[in-house]
Amino acid sequence: MTDKALVELAFTMLERSYVPYSHFPVGAALLCADGTVFTGCNVENAAYGSCICAERTALVKAVSEGHRDDFVRLAVAGRGEDYCWPCGACRQMLYEFAPGLTVLVARGDGDFVSMSLHELLPHGFGPSSLD
Ligand code: THU
Repeated sequence: MTDKALVELAFTMLERSYVPYSHFPVGAALLCADGTVFTGCNVENAAYGSCICAERTALVKAVSEGHRDDFVRLAVAGRGEDYCWPCGACRQMLYEFAPGLTVLVARGDGDFVSMSLHELLPHGFGPSSLD
């Protein structure tokens, strides 16, 4: 799948976002080595701390379906003027499984940038940090 197609999939997830509090929909699409894609959107909650981001929705869907060490690219998209940068919690959760992940970060006009998770989370704390 091309980067553009993965980003477009992330954009399709904006419609599924449940965002009655922030009114800030985010969509994500996580590509595995075998071509499987897990999508996600943000799902908010009246107890604000219980909200989950789009990227983590996609990640936990993937892990719960048996994927762990085969993530190759993640696209994240929002409707804003700025690129929809992944939050710190999402960077950390992704780092656990795919420190070398490529992350495609899109903004509302469809433009996107490609960055490595190492760039987004330098000197990250991961499983080997516990050795
Ligand atoms: N959000 C995401 O879905 N992903 C991020 O990486 C940043 C923030 C969501 C959480 C919340 O529902 C809304 O955007 C506003 O913070």
